[in-house]
Amino acid sequence: MARKKIVAGNWKMNTLPAEGVELAKSVVAGRSEVCECVNFIVCPPFTHLSQVVEAVKGSDIAVGAQDCATEAKGAYTGEVAAQMIAALGCKYVILGHSERRQYYGETSESLNKKMAQAYANGLTPIYCVGENLEEREAGNHFAVCKAQIEEVVFNLTEEQFANLVIAYEPVWAIGTGKTATAEQAQEIHAYIREVLRSKFGAAAEECPILYGGSCKPSNAAEIFAKADVDGGLIGGAALKAEDFLAIGKGF
Ligand code: 13P
Repeated sequence: MARKKIVAGNWKMNTLPAEGVELAKSVVAGRSEVCECVNFIVCPPFTHLSQVVEAVKGSDIAVGAQDCATEAKGAYTGEVAAQMIAALGCKYVILGHSERRQYYGETSESLNKKMAQAYANGLTPIYCVGENLEEREAGNHFAVCKAQIEEVVFNLTEEQFANLVIAYEPVWAIGTGKTATAEQAQEIHAYIREVLRSKFGAAAEECPILYGGSCKPSNAAEIFAKADVDGGLIGGAALKAEDFLAIGKGF
């Protein structure tokens, strides 16, 4: 069975509500130029998730959040529950992005709770893994990704694992203009799949593994052509509908 092809846009802390709606509408408007086989997901900031869900209504574009709370509800000032995100009509949630691990102290412990909340509310997690520059230079990138998967993904049931997207994002390639070569991406994606196979067997063949890190129209096709790369998690280039859609044409 062919794996799902996914192009997901992580807007990070960008766009005001009106700009986000405009961007989403432009993606909808241009969507027909790209193969129907590509699943597009947009992940705006919490503040305009609801308006973006409305803006993509009637299209096949899905909406995701960029994080969710570890707890279901209650006295957790400033947090946004997975249940709230799901209630808006979102289907996905990005979890474990390196910016959250790095700047907000995200750990495997908190991510296990967030994953449980996502699944309890019918959201598909886009779980991010990836090494920083120091770890890559020391040759530790395999071990880092393996640990990030073992400590979180290995706790999932088979049923939950069947509804998971993984994103490999080398920290040194995020927002830097530096991209992993297609060969580097394939090498580690194949490794990640092997790690998944050791726990989940043949189900690992169905799990989409996305590449993220300065992915753009000019390099998407080469990276997506690799056997174990099933699409991209796009930052900067997702903020321009034209570029985001052009990345989808990379398949
Ligand atoms: P850039 O595409 O801006 O490098 O960001 C990648 C990313 O972090 C997506 O989650």
